[in-house]
Amino acid sequence: MAKQKTAYVCAQCGAHSVKWAGQCPDCGAWNTLSEFRVAAAAAASGAEATGLDALELDPEERYATGFAEFDRVLGGGLVPGAVVLLGGDPGVGKSTLLQQVSGHVQGAVPVLYATGEESLRQVSQRARRLAIESTSLKVLADTGLENVLGEVRRNASRVLIIDSIQTMTAAELTSAPGSVAQLRECVGRIVQFAKQNEVSVFVIGHVTKEGAIAGPRVVEHMVDTVLYFENDPASRYTMIRSVKNRFGATGEMGVFAMTGCGFREVRNPSAIFLSRDTLAEPGSVVSVAWEGSRALLVEMQALVADGGGGYPKRVAQGVDQNRLGLLLAVMQRHGDAQLGSEDVFVNVVGGLKMAETAVDLPTMLSVVSSFRDRPCREGLVSFGEIGLAGEVRPVRYGEERIAAAAKQGFSCAIVPRANVPRKTPAGIEIVAVSRIREAFDAAF
Ligand code: TYD
Ligand code: MG
Repeated sequence: MAKQKTAYVCAQCGAHSVKWAGQCPDCGAWNTLSEFRVAAAAAASGAEATGLDALELDPEERYATGFAEFDRVLGGGLVPGAVVLLGGDPGVGKSTLLQQVSGHVQGAVPVLYATGEESLRQVSQRARRLAIESTSLKVLADTGLENVLGEVRRNASRVLIIDSIQTMTAAELTSAPGSVAQLRECVGRIVQFAKQNEVSVFVIGHVTKEGAIAGPRVVEHMVDTVLYFENDPASRYTMIRSVKNRFGATGEMGVFAMTGCGFREVRNPSAIFLSRDTLAEPGSVVSVAWEGSRALLVEMQALVADGGGGYPKRVAQGVDQNRLGLLLAVMQRHGDAQLGSEDVFVNVVGGLKMAETAVDLPTMLSVVSSFRDRPCREGLVSFGEIGLAGEVRPVRYGEERIAAAAKQGFSCAIVPRANVPRKTPAGIEIVAVSRIREAFDAAF
């Protein structure tokens, strides 16, 4: 029998400590440490090692979720036996999406949807609204994990959905539902159950701001795949991004739109973040961003206004504020743009957040365009990283970005010299630049 040890775990950051304290020594949050029993090293199981080539493998089987966009985020569909954590703010659409997915997957294999948050009536009302078929979809309103897993066995379900992990309890733990101890114990058992029985599990986790209820971050390391909803309340679109995936690429993003009857996927999102009618205005430039495994055309906007002699404001929405400061300094030093006393505002249309350095050059061009009060030339796109010496540096996937822009009908691309492809796609002129000054000359 394994011996039990005690540790204290922070509900916010998941850090362990051996002693209790009022403040987490790691993240500094107050009153977030709670007792957590750790099992000592387990007794030998008697399992023997085998050679990899001795294992018989099925050709990889995956379940389709009914959304090509969601399949892509999962790395090509749901892997049997995989545990997928789906996190997001309350009300962002986690239950809606997974109910739609369960309605599709049940056409292939039996599914159990276990909810500890809503009554069966609420679930069935939503199912009606979403027009979900439920021939082999079972619904269970319960918060006891043992019973939920028992029902999976009894119904021979191949896919289990748990809504949400913060409401589930493992019977012999005395701590409250939603505590770190409960979350870890429940997810640990779910993972073990999933691997032993080849049942795929979606685990919903609410992102919480309070310390009393632990967030999905404390169990991220235990599951195979971690997905988060990214949603800007002002935008019509909801994005789902993979931040960890044992069965596919991370950083993959799917785009969805919420409608009156659930989510609709946006199959070709490459141009949804463009507002065509503002492109001819000063301060607007289209950048070719790279999201997951595809290009996305995104409009960058800048507004340069007289600061009135006060301390100049620099406001960046969707790009890093420090990066903007750096770009403005490089422009001043190497691009003859005297912006020292001007207020500068930069915004990415559609509420997107750009983490790539490839948006450096289009950001700069949008600032110059607003500063000179002149629109950039028609049909222009651009991408490229800017160095401190005023040089334009190459970024990854240059060729793919140019091809995506040409496909959307853009006629001119200002790109880093090293990103020029051997063969130019039809209909687009490529201007190669290696200094920011050359880019400024080419853009107008
Ligand atoms: P929900 O999926 O319950 O969010 P979560 O489980 O993440 O807390 O619902 C999200 C929101 O979506 C809710 O405010 C109602 C809205 N909604 C629609 O707009 N259309 C629909 O068809 C459904 C089912 C919900
Ligand atoms: Mg819900």
